[in-house]
Amino acid sequence: MELCVALDLPTKEENLALIEKIQNYDVWLKVGLRTYIRDGEAFLHVIKQINPDFKIFLDLKLYDIPNTMADAAESIMGLGVDMFNVHASAGKRAMSTVMQRLKKYEKRPLVLAVTALTSFSEEEFKAIYEADIATKANQFAKDAMDSGLDGVVCSAYESKAIKGFTCNEFLTLTPGIRPFGEDAGDQKRVADVAFAKEALVDFIVVGRPIYQAQNPAEVVAKILELI
Ligand code: C5P
Repeated sequence: MELCVALDLPTKEENLALIEKIQNYDVWLKVGLRTYIRDGEAFLHVIKQINPDFKIFLDLKLYDIPNTMADAAESIMGLGVDMFNVHASAGKRAMSTVMQRLKKYEKRPLVLAVTALTSFSEEEFKAIYEADIATKANQFAKDAMDSGLDGVVCSAYESKAIKGFTCNEFLTLTPGIRPFGEDAGDQKRVADVAFAKEALVDFIVVGRPIYQAQNPAEVVAKILELI
C-alpha cells in the first residue's frame, strides 16, 4: 500500500512548505483541481525539482464527451504525471476512447476511474445514480476494467468487493482516510489505515489529517510505519 498526500492548501507557498517538510518520505503527491487551476503545469515541474522521486497523481476527474476526454488525456501525457483519473459515470465508450488514444505512447501514467465520491451518503448517491453505492461501485469498476483502465477511486468500504468483482491486480485508491480516527470533515465514508490495509487498498489518499497537523512529517512517518 502507498500513501498519497493531497496538496489541497489555499496557496502555492503553503503547498510548497508542506512538500518540503515531507520531501524525504516515499510518498505520492496528489494535485487536485484547486492547485492545478491556480498553479498549473509549472507547479508540477517544481515538485519534481524538489524530489524527482515524488510520484504525482493529477486528480482532475475528467468527465466530458469521449473525444474531449481523450484530447484532455493526451494533453495530460505532456505533463509528466504518474497517474490521473476520469469519472466512470462518463461511460465505457468515453473510458475506452481515452485508453485507445493513449495506446500510441510507449509509457503512460496509471489511469483510474472515480466510482462514488467518498463525500456521498447512500441517500445522496441514490438521488443521482438510482442505485446503492456498493452495487454501482462494483459495476463502475467492471466497466473501467473492461475499458482498459488500471483501477478505481472508491472508499475503503468498497475496495475488497471491487477486487472480488474485478481482480486483485485491479488497483483501488481510497480517499476519506482518517489514519488515527481524526475528524471526518465533509467525508461520509471514512476509514483508518488498518481498515484500508485489510480491504486490500493499493493507495490511500490523506489530506487534512496531514496538512492540518502541527507536525505533518510526523504524521506521514506514523502512517508509513503502519503501512
Ligand atoms: O482532506 P481529505 O483527506 O478528506 O482529502 C481527500 C482528498 O481526496 C481531497 O483532495 C478530495 O478532493 C479527494 N477525493 C475524495 N473523494 C474521491 C476522490 C477524491 O475525497 N472520491
